[in-house]
Amino acid sequence: MIKTAIITGGGSGFGRETALKLAEKGTNLSIVDLSKERGEETVRLCEELGVEAIFVEADVSMMEDVQRYVAETIDKFGRVDLFFNNAGISGSGVRTLECSIEEFHSIVNVNLNGAFYGLKFVVNEMLKTGGGVIVNTASLGGVAGMPTLGAYSATKHAIIGLTKTIAGEYGRDNIRINAIAPGTNKIPMAFPRGEIDAMAEEVPTDRLGQPHEVGDVVAFLLGEESSYIHGAVISIDGGAAAL
Ligand SMILES: NC(=O)c1ccc[n+]([C@@H]2O[C@H](COP(=O)([O-])OP(=O)(O)OC[C@H]3O[C@@H](n4cnc5c(N)ncnc54)[C@H](O)[C@@H]3O)[C@@H](O)[C@H]2O)c1
Repeated sequence: MIKTAIITGGGSGFGRETALKLAEKGTNLSIVDLSKERGEETVRLCEELGVEAIFVEADVSMMEDVQRYVAETIDKFGRVDLFFNNAGISGSGVRTLECSIEEFHSIVNVNLNGAFYGLKFVVNEMLKTGGGVIVNTASLGGVAGMPTLGAYSATKHAIIGLTKTIAGEYGRDNIRINAIAPGTNKIPMAFPRGEIDAMAEEVPTDRLGQPHEVGDVVAFLLGEESSYIHGAVISIDGGAAAL
């Protein structure tokens, strides 16, 4: 049976890399993103690999958009087997209590509420077809504090709480769910070289990660090879969380 995956934030970074890995394995894809341009480009790249893919323009922080991306996926493919619940934003990088109320709410809306809506409506569909596999994107900031990104860190800790709790509640319904905790990964091109080197020095492997190193692990966690990994938080951080 050909599987169908929904990937939020599928237009870039971890989302796109995971889409390409799943497409290589023959999975049909529903790519969800705010950006039409980036999302449609991921669809094109997946189609080149021989699978069917659709793009759904949606803001994961809007519950109606989440219901719509699930409905459009079911309309097209009839089912959803795999879910990479990944879209997220970080923050402007000020000391946590200097973060504006508006910014705090917007980070919670996207990273936590958006992930919750996705779980709520996707799991509902998975239950109708006998189960599914989910990966939620947390962060190194979800297992440790992250100075100047307090709202982000709080939401990523919350993602881990949701993951573990849902694992306990839905494992017997054949819903398998895990979280990933990537360390600092893709850095904007404009970022000063010195700052990138300083961040890399904090990592035991002495370098920052690449998005494909996350995509490979997510594809594994969504695949049969990881069938007994459930309720886990998998660090992909070059050893940063070990310190
Ligand atoms: N990049 C890192 O260093 C890093 C580290 C740990 C965790 N993360 C987390 O990984 C996830 C993906 O990060 P990335 O580095 O691939 O980011 P990215 O910026 O490359 O891609 C994120 C994608 O999500 C989309 N997006 C943002 N807000 C959205 C919304 N409200 N609705 C729908 N789509 C939205 C963007 O348009 C973008 O295409 C995020 O949850 C992020 O917090 C990133």
